[in-house]
Amino acid sequence: MQSNKKSSKISGFYKLPIEKRIELIKEFADLNDQDISDLKKPIDMGLSDRMIENVIGNFEMPIGIAMNFIINGKDKLIPMSTEESSVVAAASNAAKIARIHGGFKTSISNPIMIGQIQILGVSDVATAANKIIEQKKDILHVANAQDKILVDLGGGAKDIEVRILETSNEKMIVVHLLVDVRDAMGANAVNTMVEALAPIMEELTGGYIRLKILSNLADKRIAKATAIFDKEAMGGEKNVDAFLESYTLAKIDPYRAATHNKGIMNGIDSVIIATGNDFRAIEAGAHAYAAKDGQYTSLTTYHKDGQGNLVGEIALPVAVGIVGGAGSIHPKAKLCKKILGITSAKELSEVIASVGLAQNFAAVFALSTVGIQKGHMSLHAKNIAMMAGANEDEIDQVADQLIKEQNVKLDRAKEILASLR
Ligand code: MEV
Repeated sequence: MQSNKKSSKISGFYKLPIEKRIELIKEFADLNDQDISDLKKPIDMGLSDRMIENVIGNFEMPIGIAMNFIINGKDKLIPMSTEESSVVAAASNAAKIARIHGGFKTSISNPIMIGQIQILGVSDVATAANKIIEQKKDILHVANAQDKILVDLGGGAKDIEVRILETSNEKMIVVHLLVDVRDAMGANAVNTMVEALAPIMEELTGGYIRLKILSNLADKRIAKATAIFDKEAMGGEKNVDAFLESYTLAKIDPYRAATHNKGIMNGIDSVIIATGNDFRAIEAGAHAYAAKDGQYTSLTTYHKDGQGNLVGEIALPVAVGIVGGAGSIHPKAKLCKKILGITSAKELSEVIASVGLAQNFAAVFALSTVGIQKGHMSLHAKNIAMMAGANEDEIDQVADQLIKEQNVKLDRAKEILASLR
């Protein structure tokens, strides 16, 4: 068990050698030697071969730790897996500002997922829809018979909704089965249930079933996080105002909202990947939810409080699990969940919403003040140095020179490298 007293604010963490960082994480998260060995070694090819088809290798991505997070009063270190530089640092910086006023507070709805059943060829859709509603009890009974374990855990099919949709030449019934999936992502449980219900639906309506599948617009499984970003730490109220001006564009313009939400997903996907969850499902749900009122818009909202601080809030569907799926067999995903100290899908959702808000705050704050390139430059220069052929001993020297000259270009990196050799 992780202690509540440990602080996620470890100054200078980024300057430490990797071994020392691992030591600190081991201590924070009570990891054992096996965990550390899992962290360091590549995953077994045999495991990969069981995860997908036609395996020929593994694709490695870095895992970094975002610092400074307090979520619902508890310090958290956040493992993030991403290929994009600056994401981890940006999340850590945002969390540092948020912790001045207590960090992130969250609220998470019940883990209700939706399964859709599409019924076509029904002559009288209104009467058929009523019949389905009348038989709700039996329908739920059949659905729940598919997953006794889920029901024993307090989950299972809880309700149905019946919709009538229309194209230019036909009407169809779409039944939504609402399933409480507890600590799972839920796709397997829901898909099994809706498939089992297909014959009953055909019998009840006289129509035929085409699709029967989970919806990734999990708009009944919403995670919300809020935080206060201190005005002084932001460099004064003028920067809060500049932030709000920038944010407004994401509110009213889908072109900006897409980029704004991409920044949110930089953080969220990194946690989703680190914990072995389905990032495509989260992406699909998030973007569909962002368009729920008819126009694609920002997943976050911001305003200024009475003291001039910035208050941010995020709300999005978070269909994640801590049981089942790749996250239960991938050693690194298991380890990342241990670092997070989570024991439920709800807690993982709290982390995801908080990281999404932090990531968004960091991006918009940088954009509305110094711009995004400044923060990116250091790692970008190192990448350019590597591309120019610099070895481990040369990378920093070349990168430092590129930044000093404010000329982070491959040609110049090659010249600097040649002059060093
Ligand atoms: C880059 O990966 C993400 C940003 O473009 C997000 C944003 O513009 O808000 C910086």
